[in-house]
Amino acid sequence: MGRLDGKVALITGAARGMGESHARLFAKEGAKVIATDRRDKLGEETVASIRAAGGEAMYLSHDVTDESQWQSVIDAAVARYGKIDILVNNAAFAAFHSAEESSLEDWNRVMDVCVKSIFLGCKFILPAMQKAGGGSIVNISSIAGMAGMPQQAAYQAGKGAVRILTKSLAVDYAQYNIRANSVHPGMVRTPGTRLVLEDEKFINMMRDKTILNRVAEPLELSYPVLFLASDEASFMTGSEVVVDGGYMAQ
Ligand SMILES: NC(=O)c1ccc[n+]([C@@H]2O[C@H](COP(=O)([O-])OP(=O)(O)OC[C@H]3O[C@@H](n4cnc5c(N)ncnc54)[C@H](O)[C@@H]3O)[C@@H](O)[C@H]2O)c1
Repeated sequence: MGRLDGKVALITGAARGMGESHARLFAKEGAKVIATDRRDKLGEETVASIRAAGGEAMYLSHDVTDESQWQSVIDAAVARYGKIDILVNNAAFAAFHSAEESSLEDWNRVMDVCVKSIFLGCKFILPAMQKAGGGSIVNISSIAGMAGMPQQAAYQAGKGAVRILTKSLAVDYAQYNIRANSVHPGMVRTPGTRLVLEDEKFINMMRDKTILNRVAEPLELSYPVLFLASDEASFMTGSEVVVDGGYMAQ
């Protein structure tokens, strides 16, 4: 028996990196997965390989910063699978600028993908979840949303906003049996971090501050996300789950 049997899960940014890993694990645990991204070729490949492994999944092209696309993605998902029980707001990217170096355009780009996307995703999925009788929202923040770090002003502000937006959702939607929790990864090896992982100074600093003294693999994040998404976490809402090898512990 799968841990997500009978569930329908929409995962954004699922073409690669952690989103891809979440999509694969969710399907393996019995969920019907709607994998969305704007990297269509990669997204289609992810879904094809989930299906080849016996899972159920569909791919939808989706820019998470675009309001009209959210409605059409949710409509297409509900038309195919009848409901949506789980939303994992995963798509985002980091930018490496101090406040002084960040142009307003940089700031807006990062805030759009980190925060506006999550607002839009929740705004449009909440009616569908209420109709389904409840649901679980997992918002991917970061330890960068909890503690100061060098050269990431906009990204940190965005990820910090995700942390508190999640608590606001938890308060407003508990009455509809909808839970919302945030996940705060430390350093994870993904295509998105390929370049920073080559920066020896940065990576040594991250390793030194990480008690487990290494970078995580995506699956190490997928299990906590799966837990929060599932009914196993039925008494968890408004929580911030830190998965960082101990970075925040000292
Ligand atoms: N990798 C890390 O060390 C780390 C640490 C903390 C938090 N995070 C967060 O985890 C999440 C996943 O990160 P990752 O490292 O797997 O990234 P990644 O770059 O490897 O994958 C992100 C995916 O999101 C997609 N995406 C980006 N912008 C999009 C948009 N506007 N619309 C639709 N899709 C879009 C990309 O196409 C890509 O497929 C992000 O929210 C990131 O901020 C990552």
